[in-house]
Amino acid sequence: MSTAALTVKDLSVWFKTPAGRLQVVDNISFSIKAGEATGLVGESGCGKTMTAIAILGLLPAPGSTIESAAIEINGRDISTLSAVQRRHILGRDIAMVFQQPGTALDPVFTIGQQIAAVHRRHAGGGRNHTRQAVLDSLDEVGFGQPGKIAAAYPHELSGGMRQLAMIAMATVCKPAVLIADEPTTALDSSTRALILQQIKRLRADHGTAILLVSHDLSVIRQCCQNVLVMYCGRLLEKTDCQSLFAHARHPYSAGLVSCIPQISALKPARIDAIPGQVPALSALPPGCHFAPRCDYAVPQCVQSAPGFGTGGNRGVACFRPL
Ligand SMILES: Nc1ncnc2c1ncn2[C@@H]1O[C@H](COP(=O)(O)OP(=O)(O)OP(=O)(O)O)[C@@H](O)[C@H]1O
Ligand code: SF4
Ligand SMILES: [Mg+2]
Repeated sequence: MSTAALTVKDLSVWFKTPAGRLQVVDNISFSIKAGEATGLVGESGCGKTMTAIAILGLLPAPGSTIESAAIEINGRDISTLSAVQRRHILGRDIAMVFQQPGTALDPVFTIGQQIAAVHRRHAGGGRNHTRQAVLDSLDEVGFGQPGKIAAAYPHELSGGMRQLAMIAMATVCKPAVLIADEPTTALDSSTRALILQQIKRLRADHGTAILLVSHDLSVIRQCCQNVLVMYCGRLLEKTDCQSLFAHARHPYSAGLVSCIPQISALKPARIDAIPGQVPALSALPPGCHFAPRCDYAVPQCVQSAPGFGTGGNRGVACFRPL
């Protein structure tokens, strides 16, 4: 069996707030093999971005705490690295494309200077070597005139072009793992298709393991082999995409699937929409956090939290899976 490119074991994140210590990521574990893409889905506020940031080891806020049994890239645990050691792996072994490229890019440097800085830090080499790597990375993500884009400042590019430039920057050193957090949000449909095509290409051409964060299951369906469904900081279902869309086993996952119009049209939905709201972290319901919104809840569901029924990369955290 091949070693996973990314393995996350028992990851938790807490915030210190005036309302007390709040857990935003609750003991989640999963792995992604080289050349595979896994989607991380869930409604807004479920902890997707905090999971991504915690994997990188970047503290999400002052006073926050990250704990894990291990975060491994190709079998090497990065969770215990110092800040200095971490700088050596960010961009080289693992990279992230953020939700808002406008804020992730530095406005005072050109796109080329920013990509070159990442390449120089990890790959070294002379000026010409770096320049070629910058142009190649921009060419690879589909820019017809990479030299022109390299010379441009972020504000001179559209949102979609900035996102593509971010992908070029994140992948210039061909990292083993790429985390993309909502990379297509707020983009028009043709730019969105272009970005998703680049994500598929990275997986196929470079064997990159990808964690694709999105609240949009149709995006996950187009790009990913596997999917993680998250709610209130917990993983509720881990499965392959095909199984999720054919037969989601967690009532929450089934609710998300039934909210995709084209899927509902093909297959009658078991749940029309998910009633109610995601609860505040400071007022999480006891037991299964989804219980107040679940049509299948029984008294047991509020007495204790369901664990995963199976180990490994498949499972459902529900007392009464569908
Ligand atoms: N600095 C902070 N202090 C306290 N709570 C925070 C802080 N930052 C985020 N949170 C809370 O952490 C939870 C998880 O946030 P996160 O950004 O991971 O959600 P998300 O699933 O990525 O949502 P979205 O789909 O809107 O991007 C949310 O309830 C959010 O309100
Ligand atoms: S554990 Fe109970 S409340 Fe939670 S999803 Fe399953 S049936 Fe619904
Ligand atoms: Mg987010």
